[in-house]
Amino acid sequence: MKNLIVLGIETSCDETSAAVVKNGREVLSNVINSQIKIHEKFGGVVPELASRNHVDNINIVVKEALKQADIAFNDIDLVTCTSGPGLVGALLVGISYAKGLSFALNKPLLGINHIEGHVAGNYITHKELEPPFLCLIISGGHTHLAYVKDYTEFEIMGKTRDDAIGEAYDKVARIIGLGYPGGPKIDKLALEGTPNIRLPKSDVDNLDFSFSGIKTSILNMYNKTPEINKADLCISFEKVSTEMLVENTLKALEQLNLNTVALAGGVSANSYIRKAFKELKGINVYYPEMQYCTDNAAMIASAGYYRFINGEVSDLSLNAVPNLKLK
Ligand code: KG4
Ligand code: ZN
Repeated sequence: MKNLIVLGIETSCDETSAAVVKNGREVLSNVINSQIKIHEKFGGVVPELASRNHVDNINIVVKEALKQADIAFNDIDLVTCTSGPGLVGALLVGISYAKGLSFALNKPLLGINHIEGHVAGNYITHKELEPPFLCLIISGGHTHLAYVKDYTEFEIMGKTRDDAIGEAYDKVARIIGLGYPGGPKIDKLALEGTPNIRLPKSDVDNLDFSFSGIKTSILNMYNKTPEINKADLCISFEKVSTEMLVENTLKALEQLNLNTVALAGGVSANSYIRKAFKELKGINVYYPEMQYCTDNAAMIASAGYYRFINGEVSDLSLNAVPNLKLK
């Protein structure tokens, strides 16, 4: 079969990214322009600023991705972009660019679900990984336990009832004054701590999650005792939230009679979580290389490849769907 060269475009939040991926798993380039420095001083992503910065950067990032892959526009066989979920204005920048490019080059267009993209981050790192498996998608916006039946077929087994886990990391970091984005900062500080602070584990009776209770109890604790050891608090938070992730993952694997789980999304970069999952006996655990955990366009191109060979394409009516569901 002829090689399929896919251009991926990702602008759902605060990273402008473009990537060129060959046959779904071979990354020829993956350029990411992070806006963290711009949003940092506001303590979180400012949607309007994100959109404007995507507009400024998208063309530069796409051209750089082509240059690094050593290909020309005409070598692209398929143009993919994130169509949701995400910030509507941010998504529209990538979608509009992708539509224009697909029309000008006369090449097919395909809108991709960002969460499905995170799952595909694993295909890039692990060439041998194939469905079926369970995927724990843990990011700033999502906490999903998804049964990946096939490359394009998913069943949600459990999800968060309140905060996404990354959101909880970011909020806890903000409460104790670590700044934005909080996940990597908690990860680093926790390495110096001891998990000796008791935090309540939320009791949810199916495979769903809840993280807002832990966050609130940290807020109350910190207000009462601001001199508390922050490193101990960070690792105690990591410990209790990871236990919740592990418990539900094990239950889901048992229900599905599977023994393979892949972690995905920005929070799967967390060293405590990675280690806890790797220590599970009798379970194959996968997670993407760091650059494919947080938002990137290579994962979008990879997911796009599998949708395309499944016979799917989008037309120019493709629109942003801020709350797009995984299915
Ligand atoms: O997947 P992602 O880049 O964007 C979304 O789709 O949401 O995830 C971003 C989230 C943020 O909440 C960030 O704090 C978290 O991932 N994150 C981490 C780490 N690196 C990024 N959380 C914990 N530990 C990390 N090392
Ligand atoms: Zn993401």
